[in-house]
Amino acid sequence: MAAQKIYVTRLIPDKGLQLLRDKGYDIVVNQEDRVLAKNELIEALKKNQYDAVLCLLTDHIDAEVFDAAGKQCKIFANYAVGFDNMDLKAARDRNILISNTPGVLSETVAEHTFALMLALAHRIPEADRFTRRGKYKGWAPLLLLGTDLAGKTLGVVGLGRIGSLVAHHAVRGFGMKVLYYDVKRNEEFEKEYGAEFRETVEKLLGDADFVSIHVPLIPATHHLMNNERLALMKSSAFLINTSRGPVVDEFALSHALKNGIIRGAALDVFEEEPKIEKQLFEVENVILTPHIASATEETRSKMSVVAAKNIIEALEGRVPPNIIQTATKD
Ligand code: DGY
Repeated sequence: MAAQKIYVTRLIPDKGLQLLRDKGYDIVVNQEDRVLAKNELIEALKKNQYDAVLCLLTDHIDAEVFDAAGKQCKIFANYAVGFDNMDLKAARDRNILISNTPGVLSETVAEHTFALMLALAHRIPEADRFTRRGKYKGWAPLLLLGTDLAGKTLGVVGLGRIGSLVAHHAVRGFGMKVLYYDVKRNEEFEKEYGAEFRETVEKLLGDADFVSIHVPLIPATHHLMNNERLALMKSSAFLINTSRGPVVDEFALSHALKNGIIRGAALDVFEEEPKIEKQLFEVENVILTPHIASATEETRSKMSVVAAKNIIEALEGRVPPNIIQTATKD
């Protein structure tokens, strides 16, 4: 029997690819270290009858791409926990499985969230710029005063895997109080962490010193943080977004930062990556990182293993562990 064929849209850490090689699959990896344009991806998929595709959050996977892959293709395994880049309905209509990589990146993203929160609170990027520019003339009582995390209130928007880890670190590691908003209330979590549930995002914003966003990108969360909601935050508060860019209206955020509506913000994700609202470059009180919240050697390697295992399960006729439910009618 001919080996099953897998297309990988961009080079990823080898550990997962090795699992696929060990199975004897025939693997073709896009050799160019860049995102393929949709027509290039379609062309690449049409060259061969692939049984599975390992794709990235930067690939926009829609009906045309599924059709280019062909009817024999069983699974598109996304190398990401988010899957807003995939047309789930088109996948369902074609009986193509979609999987993601949950769990293995939660700790790393939670750590990055805290890296950003601490950098904001302790003014690290600003202090670094100050020092490099030769402005440091000696210790001074009022030099670059920041703010503590201890004793402050963190508002977690979205209490999923990552949101709850962030809340855990906030309470146990930094002595913060946690408020949270989620579509589902979690009373057990509230008891364990002394956390307070708020029925709406609006009811959380005015009481938090730091607001951290951990929701998926769906129509209901698009521009969740807009002019109106930013205006509900304390003027001394900070906003951190490590979820998906379009959840925050970047233009509204730059206005809020410029006009002292909030004190600062940190973004790891952007509305139209890799483009960034240019007004954000004009404000000092924002930290921008290039979608690297999960970017540690360990985590990116684990993600490759999870994606590979999803493919192996599908190709061996079992149900992969991380299937995205595409079966609900929308
Ligand atoms: C994801 O997995 O969705 C992150 O945004 C990148 O690792």
